[in-house]
Amino acid sequence: MLLASTATARVTQRVISIATASQKGGVGKTTICVNLAYSIARRGWNTLLIDTDPQGAVGLSLARSTRVRPGFYDYLGGHPTLTDLVLATRLPEFSILPAGQYDNIMRLGVQFFDVARRVSDLQRAARLAGYHVILFDTAAGLTGVTEGILKSVDYAILPQQSEPLAVRSVPHMLETLARFRSEGAPVKVAGVLLSMVMEDSPTSLQVARELRQVLPPDLMFKQSIPRLPSFLEASAHGVPVALLRQNPPPEAFLFDQIAAELETRVGLNRQQDHGYRHASLLD
Ligand SMILES: Nc1ncnc2c1ncn2[C@@H]1O[C@H](COP(=O)(O)OP(=O)(O)OP(=O)(O)O)[C@@H](O)[C@H]1O
Ligand SMILES: [Mg+2]
Repeated sequence: MLLASTATARVTQRVISIATASQKGGVGKTTICVNLAYSIARRGWNTLLIDTDPQGAVGLSLARSTRVRPGFYDYLGGHPTLTDLVLATRLPEFSILPAGQYDNIMRLGVQFFDVARRVSDLQRAARLAGYHVILFDTAAGLTGVTEGILKSVDYAILPQQSEPLAVRSVPHMLETLARFRSEGAPVKVAGVLLSMVMEDSPTSLQVARELRQVLPPDLMFKQSIPRLPSFLEASAHGVPVALLRQNPPPEAFLFDQIAAELETRVGLNRQQDHGYRHASLLD
């Protein structure tokens, strides 16, 4: 029973918003967002995955038909309500806001400096709608709409490929976020998440080791994501890896561990303490 939620309903006072972001394209942001959002939802948090990539990467990956639906960009462009843009999934705690029609915000002339305000509106609407976690999948780069998103979310996850230039690109990302904070943005680093680690490549493993030596231990997720064909296969079929087969491959459970780590990193556990102690095994 992969689709039924086994988790207990959570009680929370606010919504925690998290964006994945990277300077470079193709580092695994969308793969991380889809799989992580699914795992967070499976842990009982009402989770809204928002596709903010004008290419509609999440939508394309999960359901080809979402390409023509209104979504995030329509909300940015002034669509008054959030809930009618959101797609339910077969997992009740997991919803998706597709990218929608990017051209709309261009046509209406919404400037990039409006994005942060509108994303804050979206977060308020999401809280009222009962979401606990919002996960933004962004397009590569830290400017434009992505800059506006990063300036209004609570946390950023920084996916990082385990390759030689990584040791230089992580500080650049951290400096950019520090600058946003100095300008008054609330964004904190949820963590650097190593992705596409090639476990049979000495270079890839060496870079992963170096990054762990150079960066403060708290800054990096303990769990990293290996480069494995199942991730490619899952995105080709438009599903999280956990839904790829009846018996999911072991890597599907990596995202449960990352979700558990994320809960601690962003303080979801503290909220949970208000209304949740432990589950009972017998009822
Ligand atoms: N851990 C992995 N192992 C193998 N393939 C992966 C892994 N993560 C992602 N991929 C594949 O690599 C490609 C790029 O991944 P993805 O689309 O998640 O990156 P992205 O950072 O979102 O890219 P973009 O910047 O273009 O939005 C996709 O084809 C995806 O299926
Ligand atoms: Mg992407």
